[in-house]
Amino acid sequence: MKILVINASPRMESGNTQVVLTPFIIGLKEAGASVDLVVLKKKNIKECIGCFSCYAKTPGRCVHDDEMPAIMEMIQAADMLVLATPIYIDGMTSLAKKFVDRMVTFLDPHFVSDNNRVRHPLRFSFPNKMFLISVCGYPGLHNFDPVVLHFERICNNFNSKFCGALLRPGVFSILLTKRYPEKIKNVLDAIRSVARQLVTDGIVSPETLRAVALDICSSEELIQTANGFWDRELKESEQ
Ligand SMILES: Cc1cc2nc3c(=O)[nH]c(=O)nc-3n(C[C@H](O)[C@H](O)[C@H](O)COP(=O)(O)O)c2cc1C
Repeated sequence: MKILVINASPRMESGNTQVVLTPFIIGLKEAGASVDLVVLKKKNIKECIGCFSCYAKTPGRCVHDDEMPAIMEMIQAADMLVLATPIYIDGMTSLAKKFVDRMVTFLDPHFVSDNNRVRHPLRFSFPNKMFLISVCGYPGLHNFDPVVLHFERICNNFNSKFCGALLRPGVFSILLTKRYPEKIKNVLDAIRSVARQLVTDGIVSPETLRAVALDICSSEELIQTANGFWDRELKESEQ
């Protein structure tokens, strides 16, 4: 199975999204998948200007001269597309959205009716499976409600199966390795297990997803730790 993973964090490899992606990619490979990783911030991808040239004037080709056509080739070759985005103000990052909007070039302009919804047919081959990875700062899985719903609708738009979402709230707590080595190891192991299940079964058990999202510390401790960090940063900036 060929899997294309998109890292949509502006912090690239030094972000918390990558902290989750690293064991995830190891798990995919352990299960025999071949994996390509695209770090969006490193790519020249311009935003869609809504000219619809890719619909009719130059069918399947965008007016922009950038790196999106090369990524589109990778998408066409993949069996599964994984989008990894941190939560930015209750949604995906603008990098992620810019990328998704540019995928409009995959669509034929005609409308088709499908399950009481309208969408466009695909003009090029597209992965028939999609999976979401997201991390956020606040504790609680409710923080992901908007992005999960949005991602499910994106899957529908591209006629691809939504295979689930790996969600890690209170993501800073997985950096407290000295305080909670065992719990953090379990979370990282669960992330690898999610990836292996995705490759072998095409679906992930709810228990494993719950193990990924497990509270490493209480909300109170997370708040205290975060506030302590920012107090120190503020003090340093005063000096
Ligand atoms: C502009 C911005 C907006 C954010 N908004 C939210 C938010 O609405 N909810 C939340 O839980 N975390 C929010 N966060 C925290 C990020 O989700 C968190 O820092 C995450 O680790 C970022 O991933 P990264 O390190 O891969 O960039 C926000 C961070 C930034 C920079």
